Amino acid sequence: MYRAREVIAALFNLDDPLRVIFTSNATDALNISLRGLLTAGDHVITSSMEHNSIMRPLRDLEKSGVGITIVPCDNKGFLDVRDVESAIKKETRMIVVNHGSNVTGTLVPLAEIGGLAGEHGLLFLVDAAQTGGSCPIDLQADRIDILAFTGHKSMMGPQGTGGLAIGERVTLDEFIPIKTGGTGSRSESEVHPDFLPDKLECGTPNTIGISGLSEGVGFVLREGVEKIRRHEMSLTERLLEGLRSLSGITLYGPRDTASRVAAVSFNVDNVMPSEVGFTLDEVYGIMCRVGLHCAPSAHRTIGTFSEGTVRLSIGYFNTEEDIERTIEAVNDIAKEA
Ligand SMILES: Cc1ncc(COP(=O)(O)O)c(C=O)c1O
Repeated sequence: MYRAREVIAALFNLDDPLRVIFTSNATDALNISLRGLLTAGDHVITSSMEHNSIMRPLRDLEKSGVGITIVPCDNKGFLDVRDVESAIKKETRMIVVNHGSNVTGTLVPLAEIGGLAGEHGLLFLVDAAQTGGSCPIDLQADRIDILAFTGHKSMMGPQGTGGLAIGERVTLDEFIPIKTGGTGSRSESEVHPDFLPDKLECGTPNTIGISGLSEGVGFVLREGVEKIRRHEMSLTERLLEGLRSLSGITLYGPRDTASRVAAVSFNVDNVMPSEVGFTLDEVYGIMCRVGLHCAPSAHRTIGTFSEGTVRLSIGYFNTEEDIERTIEAVNDIAKEA
């Protein structure tokens, strides 16, 4: 467990490995943070590109008196930091955004938002589900207070793992645990421990999953996040170029790979995303995800609500050949439409 905390702290440039806590996924990590830090009367700012793992807890909190501002992004998913600044008011306590959109791949400028949060004394919570392990993230340079991650994507761990990396500026008094129980520490007391990681972890941990995550992150560190990102972006560039050259295809998200990750959404004219996904899988053996990707607000933002899109997600182990086959397959589907 401690080795896993150490490699994750190294990945995100966090000095104290005991400020890495494990959860069952990013959703759990985001719930622990949002519900544990926000109370009635607080105001929180988020963006229109968020996954339901942020939107749904925020909608629940709204019912108990937390004010929410959802800053609209443009139709490529870009968030304008000036709009975030304009939304700040005296009750604002936190800014929470995803680093990379799971719908369009659009990245947010972490350091700029972190700087803004710092200037106004706000907590900055980042959902790094799409970027942990595939994009450089530096908790200190980007001025992130809390980073929520999932294990099973680019951190190359098993499903059912995730957690939080909690920066030094977050004081433990302000973090109220949403679950308490056995921690294996201070067992003489009926009061939950107030130190990390125990304050935010309890019950038997998923040690098998966390060992797998530790090995996955160890691999990422040995390969190097920059190298992983270069490979994924070179394939994404080719995929975007190939799909753009086809007729009957609408592509979403940024054109430029510097401002995105490898989640690529598109639609084929006159064919439902579910049908495209079914054909890609059944006929060509290419896996994708179709529909709303648990992010209805993001699809409203880019104009694809309610059918959604077809989303291809390139990973480090994909090859140029995979990309060429995919472009050909989409071309066949579009021609038959
Ligand atoms: C941007 C984003 N946030 C949060 C999540 C939720 O992650 P998990 O399934 O680990 O709870 C996902 C998962 O797809 C995601 O893409």
